[in-house]
Amino acid sequence: MQLTALLSSALLLLPYVSGSLLLDYSAARGDAPGTLGLINLEAARGDKVPANRADLYIKLDKDPKGVPALHYHRDVGLIRAEYHSLKDKTVANTTYYIGYTFSLGTVTDNLVLFQWKEYINVAAQNIPLDLEFNKDVLEFNYQAPGGKRTRQWGKQLTTGKTYHVGMVINTNTNGYIEFYFDGQKQKFDNGSTRVNGQFFTGQADPKFGAYRGEAVVVDTYVYRVQIGTALKDVQEAAGIGGFVTSTTAAPTPTPTGQCTWLGHCLGDKCANENDCDQSWVCTNGVCSTA
Ligand SMILES: *[C@@H]1O[C@H](CO)[C@@H](O)[C@H](O)[C@H]1NC(C)=O
Ligand SMILES: *[C@@H]1O[C@H](CO)[C@@H](O)[C@H](O)[C@H]1NC(C)=O
Repeated sequence: MQLTALLSSALLLLPYVSGSLLLDYSAARGDAPGTLGLINLEAARGDKVPANRADLYIKLDKDPKGVPALHYHRDVGLIRAEYHSLKDKTVANTTYYIGYTFSLGTVTDNLVLFQWKEYINVAAQNIPLDLEFNKDVLEFNYQAPGGKRTRQWGKQLTTGKTYHVGMVINTNTNGYIEFYFDGQKQKFDNGSTRVNGQFFTGQADPKFGAYRGEAVVVDTYVYRVQIGTALKDVQEAAGIGGFVTSTTAAPTPTPTGQCTWLGHCLGDKCANENDCDQSWVCTNGVCSTA
């Protein structure tokens, strides 16, 4: 009884500790694929497919090593297997944090693993952001309104490895993006950890899966997706701070003021407040209480 009471009070505290988690998908937990949103399957371009079939599907399965994963599969020539998340739910003047854990059975030119897709001002800015292969280099691309998709970051990836991506997207008119790869904050191609731009001109929503790159059979595996309004919401999916999921008991409440995110404690270096544990701020490049 006491334990139950403790558990429920710990759960009640969670929203205050974590900010607001808008989406939380875990294959290990056995979550239904629909937790991610709406399924989008397309055979040839324009030929929408209403439900999974043998040559085109997204289903809870295992990766080749036997680890539970959402398995995306497309035969040659089939163009889309994606989940459209938070449809029409994203808004202007907000900062979204997105964590995405995946591995690849296929690496091929033009395969798109993630889109931040515009649905209203499509002519001006069809795909504000995407993660797309250029040969075997995964690129994070930005399409400014009226512009072309332009690489901001890239890394050569391979099959059979688990990768963690973290994206920060600020939807103000003068917005910004930040990017984490395997838990490390990345510098964009121009040397900065932040790129300013406009990423939300009407209604832009996140999509996870496999789009284009249809010259070959495609298999990809998604383990975890988290979307929230604070970096801490998505730490696990983004692989930040060596965060490991506890599959046993409820989380032990952390005494206020105690630093659990090593390397991000009082006195550690930071670029901004998101780099610091607790509600600490980044003052002169160092995590501080004020
Ligand atoms: C976002 O903020 C700008 C500047 O403060 C404001 O003009 C605009 O109306 C806001 N948009 C929304 C949807 O709240
Ligand atoms: C990189 O480009 C962005 C604009 O896209 C800008 O905000 C940022 O200041 C640039 N950084 C450097 C070091 O040039």
